[in-house]
Amino acid sequence: MRIKKHLGHSGDYTILCTHYHNDHIANNARLAGKNFPIIYHENAASKINYLRTNASGQILRMYRDMPKEGFLKRLGVFNNTIIRLLLKREIYSRYIAEPLLFTVSYILSLKSIGRIYSGKKHVQYLKPAKMTELNFSGMKTKGWILDDSLYAMEAPGHSDCHTVYYQKNNSILIAGDALNFLTPNDIQYGTLKETIESQKFLLDLVQNEKIELLCQGHYPPLTGNEKIVSYISDIIDKHEHVYNLTSSFIKNINTGLSFDELYERYCAIDDPLINRLKKITFPRSTLVFLDVYLLKMLEESGVKSGSPRTAGY
Ligand SMILES: [Fe+2]
Repeated sequence: MRIKKHLGHSGDYTILCTHYHNDHIANNARLAGKNFPIIYHENAASKINYLRTNASGQILRMYRDMPKEGFLKRLGVFNNTIIRLLLKREIYSRYIAEPLLFTVSYILSLKSIGRIYSGKKHVQYLKPAKMTELNFSGMKTKGWILDDSLYAMEAPGHSDCHTVYYQKNNSILIAGDALNFLTPNDIQYGTLKETIESQKFLLDLVQNEKIELLCQGHYPPLTGNEKIVSYISDIIDKHEHVYNLTSSFIKNINTGLSFDELYERYCAIDDPLINRLKKITFPRSTLVFLDVYLLKMLEESGVKSGSPRTAGY
């Protein structure tokens, strides 16, 4: 409502969505004007009917893809007796634990986000097939020209639909969650390799275009080109540090160990960043999922730990 008050009540504005995560888009329909669109990347189309998948789908997918006991313990919602009961039989773990987890995560999401007003009828998608060549001070890329000074560009990694917006006249970059540390935290639609590539792309864009204002989803705006360049460079350095550390950890692992055992050893790495991340990882924060990060690193490195995995959600 504060946003609505700030914008005025005309509704004459387009809503630009960086990605489908519900902490970014839950009030879209409350803000949308009658004749103005809500814009998403086309990859958000499969999620638009159930945008709460960011909460409940994520939890179910983590439960299905990771060894169940370790995941339920880390989740911290159930005590050991309940966890033992839920996992006692295959049938309980599927037909009792899964609906229970869905219900708990749905209620928690409802409490923290409230209702989700998707504004589906106003949604328009940016289609990859319609991208055009863009040239920013010699830097060639592809994207969509939304008006004479506003561009949209793909920045996947944090999610497969993640898009950034660049307003050239005012030198503003709207980066959503593309620069979050440690992303991807989205087990369903995030990818590690693309995260780093998108961050390097944004650094190039900021440097080439001398962008003066960086707006993100979870942090205050940052002004001044030098500050923004140094901020993004630092994020990339930190990402690469954790990436390299995790890569060498994976190279030396005993592949007979279960994921839970690997995760325990991973958390025991004596490194200031890992120490910090393990203290704030989910469920303490909904921005950092260290176990998802390790799982994705194992997957993207082609390494399988000793624990069985089930099909994706
Ligand atoms: Fe996000």
